Amino acid sequence: MAEISWGLIGGGRGSQIGPAHRLGARLDGHFALKAAALDADPEAGRAYAAELGVERAYGNWREMLEGETSRPDPVRLVTVATPNHTHFEIAHAFVEAGIHVFCEKPMTMEVDEAERLVAAARERGVLCAVNYGYSGYPLVRHMREMVARGDLGAVRVVVAEFAHGHHADAADADNPRVRWRYDPAQAGVSAVLADCGIHALHMASFVTGQQPERLAADFVSAVPGRALEDDAAVTLRLSGGATCRLWASAIALGRQHGLTLQVFGERGGLRWAQEQPNQLYWTPVGGRTEIVERGAGGLSPAADAASRVTMGHPEGMPLAFANLYADLAAEIGGVASLCPTAEDGLRSVAAIHAAAASARSGGAWVDARPSLLREV
Ligand code: NAI
Repeated sequence: MAEISWGLIGGGRGSQIGPAHRLGARLDGHFALKAAALDADPEAGRAYAAELGVERAYGNWREMLEGETSRPDPVRLVTVATPNHTHFEIAHAFVEAGIHVFCEKPMTMEVDEAERLVAAARERGVLCAVNYGYSGYPLVRHMREMVARGDLGAVRVVVAEFAHGHHADAADADNPRVRWRYDPAQAGVSAVLADCGIHALHMASFVTGQQPERLAADFVSAVPGRALEDDAAVTLRLSGGATCRLWASAIALGRQHGLTLQVFGERGGLRWAQEQPNQLYWTPVGGRTEIVERGAGGLSPAADAASRVTMGHPEGMPLAFANLYADLAAEIGGVASLCPTAEDGLRSVAAIHAAAASARSGGAWVDARPSLLREV
């Protein structure tokens, strides 16, 4: 298969997520990094791109858009891995130019921006996929298939957590990588729920096939001086009748990454944790708990397709990202995949805003659906 030319915006030296994108995009040889605007500082961005051997190193994304759209062979996919408040403007400009976009979460700060992005992607016939990278794990895809084929019966309750302890004090309040996450001007209406809980929320929908309908939320800013929440609990009613209990926290000292998913159905329960992604715990009603190993025989086709090394060799997060890049390559080639869509991005942004509104009104139940996707 010919390499697809790819561009990266953000993900400069020292960024958290840039390296995982570069690894994921390269792993299967689907994409070649041809153009980049990697840093808020143009010189730093150009220098780092040159060091990485990127052919076309731009000072900022506007230069990159202009440069690429005036070439006969522009990049076909652009990844947007900048802080949240820049996502909409950058993603919208590239979508409007007819270039596929892979956008970091949350897709936008505002619901109306997310709706405009969905509309623009539909109109231009390009992708605006969202990086819910954990949905690329083989055993997460296996859970989805187990639910879909009815192994659990009707899903009753989902418990989704993304609770870590890395912002439990104010010591790094001036760290630029932490500061924007709690600044409403740069992070929007929510900090830890929009930053971390959004993955757990997406995963609950991805695995159950059910979307948020109504929710009630409680937000806490435990560290003094924080304008946005560092701990959030949300209860959601999902479209297929399941209840989802979601906990997001940045003050849960002792927890490291902290993304876990438990799904409880009529006929059995599933338990999975991102820190041990190669094992899934399945307990059928009246039976013993089994450990399902990634790479073992007899898993679902989606899990087998997403799995790269034999059983017992750990696979981790950059390989899950690589599965999303493989999905993107398939989509660009006209083949449908499990890659999260702009509509998924919109649903999550709408749920985050609904949760913030609910928390502001003392935990009132509110509609969690974006109006663009509401089926009345
Ligand atoms: P970071 O603060 O560590 O790095 C941000 C990078 O973007 C820096 O290199 C910075 O110089 C650059 N940048 C900022 N503004 C820019 C602009 N206008 N143009 C070009 N480059 C610019 O942030 P981090 O943690 O890497 O997060 C970036 C995005 O990725 C956020 O939206 C975050 O929510 C998301 N993220 C997603 C994860 C996932 O698992 N999907 C995990 C971690 C972050």
